[in-house]
Amino acid sequence: MSTFQAPKGTYDLIPPRSAVFLAVRDTISGQVRNAGYGYVETPGFEDVNLFARGVGESTDIVTKEMYTLTTKGGDQLALRPEGTASVLRAALQANLHKQGNLPVKLWYSGSYYRYERAQAGRYRHFSQVGAEAIGAEDPALDAELIILADQAYRALGLRQYRILLNSLGDKECRPVYREALQTFLRGLDLDEETLRRAEINPLRVLDDKRADVQKQLVDAPLLRDYLCDACKAYHEQVRELITAAGVVFEDDLKLVRGLDYYTRTTFEFVHDGLGSQSAVGGGGRYDGLSEMIGGPALPSVGWALGVDRTVLALEAEGVTLDLPAPTSVFAVALGEEARRVLFGKVTELRRAGIASDFSFGGKGLKGSMKDANRSGARLTLVAGERDLAEGVVQLKDMESGEQRAVALDEVLDAVRAQLA
Ligand code: HAM
Repeated sequence: MSTFQAPKGTYDLIPPRSAVFLAVRDTISGQVRNAGYGYVETPGFEDVNLFARGVGESTDIVTKEMYTLTTKGGDQLALRPEGTASVLRAALQANLHKQGNLPVKLWYSGSYYRYERAQAGRYRHFSQVGAEAIGAEDPALDAELIILADQAYRALGLRQYRILLNSLGDKECRPVYREALQTFLRGLDLDEETLRRAEINPLRVLDDKRADVQKQLVDAPLLRDYLCDACKAYHEQVRELITAAGVVFEDDLKLVRGLDYYTRTTFEFVHDGLGSQSAVGGGGRYDGLSEMIGGPALPSVGWALGVDRTVLALEAEGVTLDLPAPTSVFAVALGEEARRVLFGKVTELRRAGIASDFSFGGKGLKGSMKDANRSGARLTLVAGERDLAEGVVQLKDMESGEQRAVALDEVLDAVRAQLA
């Protein structure tokens, strides 16, 4: 029988690379935790209509990419393709918005599922860390989120990314623009599917990657020329605040996003070393989403950063994170009595909070020392019968190569001193 493989479009996180994923998640979440965001965790699946209504009936995510299922009880569910609709649903359900302290600031980290055409950087199961600030219309909040994402990428050591910024207007000015764009698109030489998209979701046509389409879009009306005064002023404040924070961005007047809930501020972080799947993160304001899913008016803003692509970006830039070795002490026991004694020492070290490991599997000295090297441990404890007869173990510093005998009951202190 052949062995099973991970499903198409998915992959497994395996040591040592998996440690980089953890570090990326920690670095991103560290930034938002440091800014007052509280942790939220929602189920991996939701009522399919939450996404249909929230993300948008005409988006690729909802029409083509959702993993839907009917439960034995007859419920229509979907594996979550994104986090924003779920987090807002959870906040509304828990009445967080009624507790008088808006915005409610939440962060999350987890797996998301989209039935996409699999390719490098684009998976059917992927991982995001996200942050949402719910219930306040304040350009400083939009700015805060952009600055925090920038800070996270910077802290990881990324440099070759760019921030693209745009405003998509609001329910006053966007419909006017939408009509102007539709009128323009109807006059172009487009295939049927694209024309259909122009009727349902004309802004998405601006995002078409095909050169022959892009060529025709050169003179398309720009949303910027249709923004109402309130949206213009709001956007200007966001730009000023992030500029004052020293964050460099590019105005991208054609930036549209693949989810329908956005209003006003939208942004994307793109990395130049990733080829076609260049967006490492994205987000924006979604002032109408709460009402779209049955809640009160709650203007909100957020982002999600893709962990998979952030790791690819690190690899593309050749950045190696400064990860501490997972193990500080590795114990090598020669003979049964030594195994018993050193296994006890390892337990004692672990209880004292010192990361320690043991040469399992009854190997000889050579094989065990190989394990010790592979573990990356700074110190090894080695003991055979003769050491035990003298009441000592050998403590070896793997960096300097120095080795000395330490009395059995002084191992913890000696290890502590040497690691300090
Ligand atoms: P999104 O742009 O669809 O936004 O996804 C955010 C990030 O998730 C992308 O920039 C990318 O790095 C990663 N990502 C998305 N799809 C895939 C995939 N198939 N494979 C690998 N990585 C992927 C959202 O999901 C919004 N919920 C963001 C947001 C939060 N807006 C407001 N609040």
